[in-house]
Parts: sequence; structure tokens; C-alpha cells
Amino acid sequence: MSNLPYVVGNWKMNGTRALLTEARSIDRASGRYPKVQVALAPPFTLIHRLQEAVQNIGVGGQDCHAEESGAFTGDIAAPMLKDAGADFTIVGHSERRSMHGETDEMVKAKAESALAAGLTVIVCVGETEAERDAGQAETVVSGQVENSVPRSEDAPARLSVAYEPVWAIGTGRVPSVGDVAAMHRSIRAKLVEIYGDAGTEVRILYGGSVKAENAAELLGASEVGGALVGGASLSAESFIAIVGAASPDQQE
Ligand code: PGA
Repeated sequence: MSNLPYVVGNWKMNGTRALLTEARSIDRASGRYPKVQVALAPPFTLIHRLQEAVQNIGVGGQDCHAEESGAFTGDIAAPMLKDAGADFTIVGHSERRSMHGETDEMVKAKAESALAAGLTVIVCVGETEAERDAGQAETVVSGQVENSVPRSEDAPARLSVAYEPVWAIGTGRVPSVGDVAAMHRSIRAKLVEIYGDAGTEVRILYGGSVKAENAAELLGASEVGGALVGGASLSAESFIAIVGAASPDQQE
């Protein structure tokens, strides 16, 4: 996979066709930052339209089912995402883990299904506030990585891991840059343990209250290969400021 900084907007359950205007603006502005890989994960209903509306950015899903088809009312399979024009999917977001009871094993099966369908995949991990307060953050996240990442041979080349502390999502609170760097180093060590040298290729994104104001500092931390952005990805102005902060040209 590319080693450019990867900035991905997760629209969550937000957006109807009206929001395609923001996507077009994001797409146009992203053309000014060729050294950043930019992508959006809109709701399923907008994937096809968004993909047709953009040229410079990737388009992906926010989840997929582990099976390719079947009697799973309301679910979406990875080959359907691919067919709708998606390039990637997010799996294992903490909102799916907590609100839909997704376990590491389920997340891993979803990630493997996404790869088998020809998508790249972003696997999310992150500790709760209680786990951090108990000094368990690195142990918990390491365990999630161990049990959630796909194991197929081509996995490391097509995988990103997003570290998103649950307590930082949508709260305006972010860990210190030192804590982010320490966690990213720990995730890197686990990926190398799993995949050998190929584990160094996997981009590790930070997510949780990334905004224009804190993006440069967070993206500058060691082993931070990009950002997964929720709220601030809903407007072109705030999202493009984050893309700009990720651009190596900007940081020189
Ligand atoms: P946030 O969400 O940027 O709104 O905190 C991040 C995420 O959940 O991916």
C-alpha cells in the first residue's frame, strides 16, 4: 500500500444527497495535496453517488458483513460495497463494537471478507476511559490488534489500523502526543510480531476528535500515518484543513 499520509473521513450516520456538495469540494481541494491520500466513508446509501462525483479521493464503507451473501436482513456484504464503487471499508469501529456487540473475532472475519472482495480495509481499535485509567490501555489495544487483524497473505499490504481511544471520539478530548506516539509504537510492535517485516508497511491512523487545530501535532507524532476523522469530515473547510496539515509539503 502507498506510504502517503492517509486521511479518511467517517461520516457515520450523517448525510443525504445534499452533502455531496461537500464531497465535491473535498475532492477538488484534495487535488491540491497530491502527497496525501484522502478518502471518505459515507453512509452506504451515498457510496455509489459519491464515487461518481469524485476523482481524487477514495470512497469506502463504514462496515461490512463477514459473509458474502445470505439471509442477513439489513446487512451489507463486502462484494456489494465493491460493486457500489467502494475501494475500502472500515471495520471494528468502537460504535459497532459497543452498539452492535461486535467482537474481535467478528471484526477479523469482516476484515478478511473485505480483502477477499478486493477492498482495502481499516481495522479500528481503542481503549475505553476506564481501561486507560486502570493502566490497561496498551494491553487492551494490543489484544484487539492480535485478534482483529486479517491474516491472509496479502493482508499487510492492504490493511490500515486506526487507533481511536473510545473516550476521545466525538468528545473534543485527545490524548497527549506522547501517549499517541507510545500507543502507535506498541501497535507497530504487535503488527511486526504478527506479520514480520511486512508489519512495518501497515499504516497506523489516529482517530478521536481530530480537528484542524490539533491535526499537525497529532499527525507529526512518531508512527502516525494518517487520521480517521468523524465530525470534522462533514464540512469541506474543516476536513481540508486537516488534509493540509497532513501534507508533507505543508510541514516542510
Ligand atoms: P470524531 O470521530 O472525529 O468525531 O471524534 C472519529 C471516529 O469515530 O472515527
